[in-house]
Amino acid sequence: MKTPAMPMLDRILFTEEEIRKRVKEVAAEISERYQDGNLKMVGVLKGSVFFMTALARELTIPVKVDFLAISSFSNHSGSPGVVRIAKDLDESIEGEDILLVEDIVDTGFTARYLMQTLAGRGPNSIAVCTMLDRSSRRIVPLRIDFRCFEIPDRFVIGCGLDYKQLYRNLNFIGVLKPDK
Ligand code: PRP
Repeated sequence: MKTPAMPMLDRILFTEEEIRKRVKEVAAEISERYQDGNLKMVGVLKGSVFFMTALARELTIPVKVDFLAISSFSNHSGSPGVVRIAKDLDESIEGEDILLVEDIVDTGFTARYLMQTLAGRGPNSIAVCTMLDRSSRRIVPLRIDFRCFEIPDRFVIGCGLDYKQLYRNLNFIGVLKPDK
């Protein structure tokens, strides 16, 4: 999707070209790290699909892919952090090198929950790769193994990230105006 008329778009944070270049660099790091491995990319629906596809295409090693979906809730005091798997992986991950692929890590609750859950299934290794890291919102400590970009604390859309389920298919990352 090319740049549409979007009155609520404040600015473009990363262009298609910048994203493509950075994805290629991160894919090279991943290909190097897992060249003797047994890599399976695990995508978290729905946001990660676009990034995961772009990343996988740049890898120079064989890779398997699988997906899961999560639901997150606030607890009784309104705090975030209650996460459960709404759609599980199709296959076992035992003995595999798992790369959890996210479009964005914010509080870290989702990625930490998934890392802990998947670690209990006997993978050979487990790591996290995110397109965007909004670390200023982090609540739980989390080691990010591969990241494309650190971003400011703003609402972003594009490349999988939505506003009311729209704009995931933008090929750039945009910032919405503050009142959105
Ligand atoms: C986003 C993103 C991560 C999660 C990160 O998913 O894809 O899964 O939020 O947030 P956290 O670090 O605060 O846990 P979202 O719930 O927006 O679903 P979507 O991918 O379907 O848009």
